[in-house]
Amino acid sequence: MVYQAPLPPEYAERSDEELTARIAAARQRLGPRLVILGHHYQRDEVIAFADFTGDSLKLSQIAAEQTQADYIVFCGVHFMAETADILTGPRQQVILPDLSAGCSMADLADIDQLEEAWRILEEHAGAPITPITYVNSTAAIKAFVGRHDGACCTSSNAKMVLEWALRGAEPGGDPHAGNKVLFLPDQHLGRNTAYALGWPLDSMVVYDPNVVNGGLLPEELRAARVILWAGHCAVHQLFKIEQIKPLRASGEPWNVIVHPECTWEVCQQADYVGSTEYIIKTVREAPPGSYWAIGTEVHLVGRLMKMLPDRRIRSLAGPQCSCATMYRIDLKHLCWVLENLAAGEVVNQIAVDEETKRWSRVALERMLALRPAQPVSAK
Ligand code: 13P
Ligand code: SF4
Repeated sequence: MVYQAPLPPEYAERSDEELTARIAAARQRLGPRLVILGHHYQRDEVIAFADFTGDSLKLSQIAAEQTQADYIVFCGVHFMAETADILTGPRQQVILPDLSAGCSMADLADIDQLEEAWRILEEHAGAPITPITYVNSTAAIKAFVGRHDGACCTSSNAKMVLEWALRGAEPGGDPHAGNKVLFLPDQHLGRNTAYALGWPLDSMVVYDPNVVNGGLLPEELRAARVILWAGHCAVHQLFKIEQIKPLRASGEPWNVIVHPECTWEVCQQADYVGSTEYIIKTVREAPPGSYWAIGTEVHLVGRLMKMLPDRRIRSLAGPQCSCATMYRIDLKHLCWVLENLAAGEVVNQIAVDEETKRWSRVALERMLALRPAQPVSAK
């Protein structure tokens, strides 16, 4: 995690009302030179300032389209700001209001571990391997993947990207034909997506970077089709099948909708599985009076409850399902970066070095070239 120095007292000690007014004034001064992007997990008071909101895929595409803007302030987490920097032009600067807004899942895969894993897999897998990285990963991991003929994916397009990566291989087909996949860092998104494509659970193994040889025997690697990195999201791990059972037993018509970072067991019990954008679209388009238990970050669930009071909406688990790092972006930090920008000072710039940028862009562009965004269910 990157260190964020404490803010000067003139920000730390101000009320929300004052900060809101100052943010609005700084934003006006910056005009079209500024674009604010907001991920769906942001606090309400921050998302209120976003010019665009979205899931990871939508926001990375929007960032790439903002060619008129000098500054892109990303209200989200570190890997999202890096992705925006990779996809925007050399003149543009991307700013993350709080540098310590990382992603605990992205932190579970570092480049040295991946290089070591690759060496082991190349030695034992017995077939070409395509690396696929979820965008929730560092730019260095994305660059490795780009350099090794792989691609990025998001929760909106993982099915399509995995299908492409497993080209030549078919569930139930010749076990020696086609490519294998190393999917990182989220084992759950990888497992849920491969299973939805027809691959049985016994065609997948979990590679643990903290154990010698990933904790796998050479014959297990040879037999596997999909090698899943032992990463996960701490927030989405909190959703359990025990929370679904009472809803089913209640006699009430609950629909259960979850993010594909939830475990395979939870996704199997859910009625719908998809990205944050998919969840919003599905609940919004549902009829008034319908019942929704949602398995994703609680700020998004809370916003849907306010936006759609005529539906019965609840979190599948409860208020503990909050992403602590997304929550670090607050009005104080937003005000601080915007007032500095308005005064001609760039603070908290996220700048990926040129070589890493070049290859991570290859991985991202391979993903974007496959097909346009469509928030499909991973089920
Ligand atoms: P989405 O791309 O679905 O918004 O997910 C990003 C994320 O970090 C979920 O935890
Ligand atoms: Fe990362 Fe999980 Fe937070 Fe998403 S919810 S940003 S995966 S820690």
